[in-house]
Amino acid sequence: EQVWSYWNHTLGVVHVETEDKALNVLTNGWLLYQTLACRMWARTGYYQSSGAYGFRDQLQDSMALVYAEPGIFREHLLRCASHQFVEGDVLHWWHPPLERGVRTRSSDDRLWLPLAVHRYVTVTGDVGVLNESINFITGGLLAPEEDSCYHLPSRSAESGTLYEHCVRSIKSSLQFGQHGLPLMGTGDWNDGMNRVGYQGLGESVWNAFFLYDVLAKFKDIAHLFGDSAFAELCASEAATLRENIRQSGWDGHWYLRAYFDNGDPLGSIANEECQIDSIPQSWSVLSGAGDPERSREAMEEVDHRLVNRDNSLVQLLQPPFDRSSLDPGYIKGYLPGVRENGGQYTHAAIWVIMAFASLGDSARAWELLDLINPVMHGSTPDEVAIYRVEPYIVAADICALPPNAGRGGWTWYTGASGWMYRLILESLLGITLEVDRLRFQPCIPDDWKSFKVHYHYRETFYHITVMRIGSAEEVTVDGIIQTDGTVHLVDDKKEHLVEVRIS
Ligand code: GLC
Repeated sequence: EQVWSYWNHTLGVVHVETEDKALNVLTNGWLLYQTLACRMWARTGYYQSSGAYGFRDQLQDSMALVYAEPGIFREHLLRCASHQFVEGDVLHWWHPPLERGVRTRSSDDRLWLPLAVHRYVTVTGDVGVLNESINFITGGLLAPEEDSCYHLPSRSAESGTLYEHCVRSIKSSLQFGQHGLPLMGTGDWNDGMNRVGYQGLGESVWNAFFLYDVLAKFKDIAHLFGDSAFAELCASEAATLRENIRQSGWDGHWYLRAYFDNGDPLGSIANEECQIDSIPQSWSVLSGAGDPERSREAMEEVDHRLVNRDNSLVQLLQPPFDRSSLDPGYIKGYLPGVRENGGQYTHAAIWVIMAFASLGDSARAWELLDLINPVMHGSTPDEVAIYRVEPYIVAADICALPPNAGRGGWTWYTGASGWMYRLILESLLGITLEVDRLRFQPCIPDDWKSFKVHYHYRETFYHITVMRIGSAEEVTVDGIIQTDGTVHLVDDKKEHLVEVRIS
């Protein structure tokens, strides 16, 4: 009974009722269940029996827990900070309880900490977390010829506040190559691209957008913390980065993916393989660092080159690595169309949809969500025969090429479930929670007249109906018009009726 009641309460914190039943079933349970039970707790699945924490992985997952389990999110921020070296870099992954893990030259890992801290603080208002003191770890530095080292780090005598840990993540990431773009090291979000910049010269265009996003957001945290000097540093580094992306990140019709150590571009029309990769395109929109005209053109190219409607998937890159002389890393060891090598990498597919939603392109965003919604891959016996994995769980990847086109890959243990939850609730249904206020900016299909969200704020229920009325926008709570257009949440243990009218 306790187990049942825990899940019933937790999964019911946000409950949606929309015309899209396949979306309701995922949003009202499965996505959060997958994120919490499999990603945060078990950290294991049929295809990867791990038990480890991945530095960038569970930070992304925990960002989806702000509504239902903010306490677990908070705890995880501190756990991650306690796996940061005094130099600012972090364990790429580690296994509790010994905490033995791997130190690498991965360039983005440490930056997920300030990003997640920004989200936690701005959504919950728990500014006090920034003052929590956490010890750093120490361990041998990587030798120049070493890409990574598996070892048991020791706890450093040095400690710092969570805020200082974030500052160290950012400061140690301000390392740029000849185009003024961040060094790629032995990989960025794409773990398989571990040889693009392994000699210490290659640069990541995706990382440039990502770092920009982190700087732009963390600037506000620095202000909140009263550290105006660091806020200014974030602002000026962000501005420089944006300019460097403008000068060296564009390929003519879309953004490049990276520069190799030898200065050759990757993700360019000039490449034989991997001419276009989706993540710099979507992050050019999501970070706000892309030029709006260029981002629109780039996203058109994503639709044209990477959306695979025949097999209902969105590919990560095209064409896959195979026979060319390009040496991007172990990604090339996957068969063409499998996992990161040009399959659907669901993480990245979701970012594509978030980007279309952010551009206000609701038709395309919803069409693509339908395409990748796992429920839709299991709605007929024929589809089941192709997809072959659980249709209520997000798969990390889907094969894109024959003979396995459309076949689901690693289910359960993928960070895509948390991102899909955020895509639906935030990018599409348009919910923004700001401490004790709810704001709605939906991006819904043209033919939807309304949808409902039941939000359990602490011990108080808010029953919200969002309706399209075609005239002036208005928000009422229990019949009273809210002059600032937001819902002010009060934990008075009553039930409140909210109407959000959108045009
Ligand atoms: C796996 C890893 C994740 C990485 C992704 C893309 O999901 O756990 O850290 O970002 O693959 O390579």
